[in-house]
Amino acid sequence: MSNSRLEAKKLKKSFGRGSRKLDVLRGVDVEFEQGKSYAITGASGSGKSTLLHLLGGIDEPTSGDVYFDNMSIFKFSSKQKDLFLNQNVGFIFQFHYLIKELTVLENIMLMGLIKGEKKDFCEKRAIKLLNLIGLKDKIKSYPTQLSGGQQQRVSVLRAIFNNPKFLLADEPTGNLDAENAQNVIELLLKLKREFNMGIILCSHDSEVYSKMESLFSLHDGKLSPFKSK
Ligand SMILES: Nc1ncnc2c1ncn2[C@@H]1O[C@H](COP(=O)(O)OP(=O)(O)OP(=O)(O)O)[C@@H](O)[C@H]1O
Ligand SMILES: [Mg+2]
Repeated sequence: MSNSRLEAKKLKKSFGRGSRKLDVLRGVDVEFEQGKSYAITGASGSGKSTLLHLLGGIDEPTSGDVYFDNMSIFKFSSKQKDLFLNQNVGFIFQFHYLIKELTVLENIMLMGLIKGEKKDFCEKRAIKLLNLIGLKDKIKSYPTQLSGGQQQRVSVLRAIFNNPKFLLADEPTGNLDAENAQNVIELLLKLKREFNMGIILCSHDSEVYSKMESLFSLHDGKLSPFKSK
């Protein structure tokens, strides 16, 4: 099967109205391919999170479009949209949003259960994934019993549970120390290699964004290629 593509065309997003109107994205054109890694950098408030939310279909543009394999994700029926969110894109948020009432194992299994996979299957896959990141002994722990870095690695597993074509990662290392940040990035790159996942990552940190194959910077509402150092 050929690689999937995620594409933004003339993407614009404004917040507010009248004199309070803020044009955050002023026409972004970009194409991402499954199996490749991309970083989006830019000053705080430049619109990185806004762009990532639009690419993943969790917010709507003011105008322009996002295409997944040439289909506009904003024209999806609600069923197609659920499928897209559940199977084609995975999200990692800066503040991991694990569910604190659920164990590590249950947090990871959740995406599979929502998809309709059997509990047994989800449990086996979650354990296999936890082995991959050396956290098998934490399966029964609750998120608050883990370190920040461990929580972030668990949220990576949750985001990739259904093998999404694209992983959208918003400052995935934002509140980690250098060593944990390195671990998370290595995990992302390993998943990219093993599952042919596309990675689209927002980061301020040159240690992090320089590990991606293609770099972009967001400035004045426009996205342009960017060279590291
Ligand atoms: N729901 C909203 N309503 C109004 N303004 C918003 C909303 N969401 C974002 N903004 C504004 O849009 C701009 C871009 O925000 P965004 O969160 O995309 O920036 P960012 O590049 O991710 O910044 P950071 O690096 O700090 O995370 C900011 O000026 C922000 O205040
Ligand atoms: Mg942001």
